[in-house]
Amino acid sequence: MRILLTGGTGFIGSHTAALLLEAEHDVVLYDNLSNSRAEVVDRLERITGRRPVLVVGDIRDEEAMRCALNEHRIEAVIHFAGLKAVGESVEKPLEYYDNNIVGTLRLLEAMRAEGVKSLIFSSSSTVYGTPKSLPLTEEMPTGEATNPYGRTKLHIEQILADCAKADPELRVVCLRYFNPIGAHPSGLIGEDPNGIPNNLLPYVARVAHGRLPKVRVFGNDYPTPDGTGVRDYIHVMDLAEGHVKALPYVTSHPGWIAINLGCGRGYSVLEVIRAFEKASGQTIPFEIVPRREGDIAANWGDPSRAEKLLGWRARYDIDDMCRDAWRFESMLEG
Ligand code: NAD
Ligand code: WQD
Repeated sequence: MRILLTGGTGFIGSHTAALLLEAEHDVVLYDNLSNSRAEVVDRLERITGRRPVLVVGDIRDEEAMRCALNEHRIEAVIHFAGLKAVGESVEKPLEYYDNNIVGTLRLLEAMRAEGVKSLIFSSSSTVYGTPKSLPLTEEMPTGEATNPYGRTKLHIEQILADCAKADPELRVVCLRYFNPIGAHPSGLIGEDPNGIPNNLLPYVARVAHGRLPKVRVFGNDYPTPDGTGVRDYIHVMDLAEGHVKALPYVTSHPGWIAINLGCGRGYSVLEVIRAFEKASGQTIPFEIVPRREGDIAANWGDPSRAEKLLGWRARYDIDDMCRDAWRFESMLEG
């Protein structure tokens, strides 16, 4: 198939591109490079032996989107592009609503104009809000988002559901990711955020590498087995595979559906630190600090819908995730 990936040079987009190229799909990456680098294209060529097309453009530029869809005769879009830092979204709500929501509206208009009817959207477990019970299933109502970033995901899901209702030919799959971590086993692509990382894994990786002094563990008084926060971490390669498996589904099922992508079990912050110590052979100093505002105690999903509808289930465990994240991290400049 001919597939366009908005945000395709980013963390999850680039890993998905690697698998799509290996599966002989034609891949166009459409990205404004606000949080990624064009060099990813060279890396993807080294990994897969095939070079994706890169179109440098913004999803809010409807004309440029239309051109890309038309010129490459795109059959399906995977929509990764967006801003994703929770804290920053509180500081800059307008930027987040404009980039994520307006950007998605422009993309939908461009798809309508060019007759592209299949869309996979990067949603997030954040749409469930504070869990009332675990594991989270897609039948549960979405919750109250606690920050502008989360609200963009919730609103976009609803906008997509409305559009699918209005156009019986439109086919939309919202993949609700839990906590993606890890890197490609080659070590050539991975996650290396600008500035101080907000998320646990890139932070732990930098401490292991000596780029940061110690991990701050946000609270050890949660109602969890060791008191630290529990999350459903998922290897980015498993997540990427989920998109590949969602393609035949999305191209053949009109309507709108949400599907969880997670492992279905949680690990605590301390378990993650221990697993990373094992993977890296480094001691990882940490200190317990107060809870981070807006954090929930525990979060994990029920991935059985993905297994039933897509034939997908996660294959990698926390040790695999830490091993691959460490390989990528240790190949970076110190
Ligand atoms: P990322 O920042 O690495 O990738 C996003 C890409 O989108 C970047 O390459 C960026 O340059 C591009 N982009 C941003 N705004 C754009 C615009 N207006 N036009 C064109 N390109 C634009 O992030 P990621 O971790 O790969 O996340 C991909 C998607 O998955 C995002 O929508 C994110 O919200 C969602 N998601 C991520 C996580 C996570 O923890 N990483 C969890 C759940 C959902
Ligand atoms: C994981 C655990 C922290 C950093 C966020 C978004 C979510 C999704 C994924 C996009 C928690 C603890 C963290 C640190 C710590 N993104 N922690 N010290 O908060 O589950 O999810 O990213 O959709 O929407 O909210 O991920 O990696 O930030 O935190 O102790 O320096 O690690 O308290 O328990 P989170 P995270």
